[in-house]
Amino acid sequence: MTAPGRRCILAYSGGLDTSVAVHWLTHERHFEVVTLSIDLGETRDPAALQGRALQAGAVAAHVIDARDLFVRHFVWPALMVGARYQGVYPLATALGRPLIARLLVELAREEGATAVAHGCTGKGNDQVRFDVAVAALAPELTVVAPVRDWEMGRSEEIAYAAAHGIEVPVTRESPYSIDANLWGRSVETGVLEDPWVEPPADAYAWTADPAAAPAAGAVVEVAFEGGLPVALDGERLEPAPLVERANALAGAHGVGRIDHVEDRLVGIKSREVYEAPAAVLLDAAHRALEGLTLSRDVLRVKALLAEEWARLVYDGLWYSHLRQCLSAFAVATQGHVAGEVRLRLARGSATVIGRRSPEALYRPELATYDRAGDRFRHQAAEGFISLFGLPLRTQAAVQGQLTEGSDRPLLPPRAQRRIVGPGSGPA
Ligand code: ARG
Repeated sequence: MTAPGRRCILAYSGGLDTSVAVHWLTHERHFEVVTLSIDLGETRDPAALQGRALQAGAVAAHVIDARDLFVRHFVWPALMVGARYQGVYPLATALGRPLIARLLVELAREEGATAVAHGCTGKGNDQVRFDVAVAALAPELTVVAPVRDWEMGRSEEIAYAAAHGIEVPVTRESPYSIDANLWGRSVETGVLEDPWVEPPADAYAWTADPAAAPAAGAVVEVAFEGGLPVALDGERLEPAPLVERANALAGAHGVGRIDHVEDRLVGIKSREVYEAPAAVLLDAAHRALEGLTLSRDVLRVKALLAEEWARLVYDGLWYSHLRQCLSAFAVATQGHVAGEVRLRLARGSATVIGRRSPEALYRPELATYDRAGDRFRHQAAEGFISLFGLPLRTQAAVQGQLTEGSDRPLLPPRAQRRIVGPGSGPA
């Protein structure tokens, strides 16, 4: 059945989709299937995963612990940028995909494979991220997406598995579609598809219910060097353990729940629930330290580029020249972002309550309202204001003063009609 030498590397999660895909790729597409499972923080039992892949018919099953690579090369750049898609989503899933694609490509080259495969559906962003990343890294490889191609629903997949003796996990099936890595947990589908419905308690796994979290909260201190976190509460930690610890600390106080109606690249609006305790905590701390150590202009331009960076990464363009250039800019801003930030975690919020840095641009002798230590030249303000306001004075003198009412919103014609209440008769 299998043509020798026709190898395909399948990104394998161990779930129903990818287990059926092992068999389908072997028998419907005539590949020798080698599976690759990548631990980005959520792989509990690698041996069981390998066993299941082999049982489903894979010729070999690899597991890679990529947690350190993930945090150093994907999460830390996002943190330095301050990236959040549409202002809220810290991009956990979107950051994981380009790394998985790169590791698939590397294994494909080692194994002499001609194709790679993933279990993405045809409606999401993830298929785009994989396909585009693989095309950029290894144009010679074919990308196969069985779940997009085979036109089986869930019950047909279960029947297919039963018919072909494929063992699928016996754990009770989650009512949601979930993707998780160290930087966050993405939850969608099921009752969440109604954007009016509050996410039920079972949608969350990493965060305490804020209402039930300790009222007193807790204080946490994050230390940064060169724009990156290096210690929590005075204890130096390697990148991946630091993120793990931050997830546990902030999650215990209900920090990091995000409920978002998001615009997918494929044109769909979709309701997404995220849990990202470490991302929310570290991003708040990092922003606070940047506020202390970066100039107003750098902060402003950096924020503009952060939005662009987040969009690129969301859209699967991690391996683009523009993403690389924007990252280089962000890195160049981070040299002086060093110091400590104190935050209070309490019932769902992470509030900055203190920050300090040897590199602070904040100068007490300039900021103080206390006459004693004041070094600010108050008289210089007068000349500054005169020139700063010059264009406005000129405009008012030549073109007249602006009056209130000139900035009323332009309503569409329907809304401008007089509204008549019940019983008040025709207008
Ligand atoms: N909407 C998010 C994104 O596109 C999360 C996707 C989650 N993926 C999943 N298979 N559940 O990044």
